[in-house]
Amino acid sequence: MTPLSGETALATSGSARVIQLSDTHLMAEPGGRLVGIDTDQSLAAVCRLIAQQEHVDALLLTGDLAGDESEKAYERLCSLIEPLGIPSFWLPGNHDSIWPASHPLAHYFRRDIRLSHWDIVMLNTQQPGEVAGLLAESELTALRVAVAKAIKTDRPLLVATHHPLMPVGCAWLDEQSVRNATEALAVLAPLGNRATVVSGHVHQDSVQAHRGVQCLTAPSTCVQFAPQSAHFQVDDVAPGCRLLVLHDDGQWAADVLRVVDEAFTVDLASRGYA
Ligand SMILES: [Fe+2]
Repeated sequence: MTPLSGETALATSGSARVIQLSDTHLMAEPGGRLVGIDTDQSLAAVCRLIAQQEHVDALLLTGDLAGDESEKAYERLCSLIEPLGIPSFWLPGNHDSIWPASHPLAHYFRRDIRLSHWDIVMLNTQQPGEVAGLLAESELTALRVAVAKAIKTDRPLLVATHHPLMPVGCAWLDEQSVRNATEALAVLAPLGNRATVVSGHVHQDSVQAHRGVQCLTAPSTCVQFAPQSAHFQVDDVAPGCRLLVLHDDGQWAADVLRVVDEAFTVDLASRGYA
């Protein structure tokens, strides 16, 4: 079952500015820590960073919004991001609770976002009880519909998921990526560079490509994972987020924004979340 439904239209200027926030890992209680980092504090720092940007049209929150499947985390998430005054759209990750369609925050769980020149489709990769991702038939159908529409209208398409569709070079994380990613990439392939995918879960900035489709991952707003690591390994890079500038001709530019006004200390010796 997917909680994602409906469509939101946002009027944007020639170049839409979208920020991807991922893997906030807020815990049930305020001040909860992940590998030494207070995840409320680090998200607050990233929100300050966003508030300093010249203009942002939308926020995409790509999963693991809670770090412990707690519903209480979402109330604090709202209290941190709503003051930004930017429309936000949420995806669940493997650390989130299962969101029913009747969830009190269901208005954040949109399937489609129509910008003036781009379309965004949100896909749920959460598998209840599993760490790894999977696109259920409902999600593959939504992707097929979005791709068919993009071809028909000649509009560029941005796809957002929690788990990545492509390996990033970390064996322990790549084992958890979307099980049926090959099928999704085949659906996207006819769009080539008119399709772009943004994902979370891997807590690091990466860019891969499949037949012209660029697949990006974002840093976490809390703990970062070390690139090219075979086993669980955190990194001491600052919390951050991904900025996407989506131009009206289908070109785009991406950047990573990192917190510079506050230092966070991570437990580099940690061998896991527990
Ligand atoms: Fe995750």
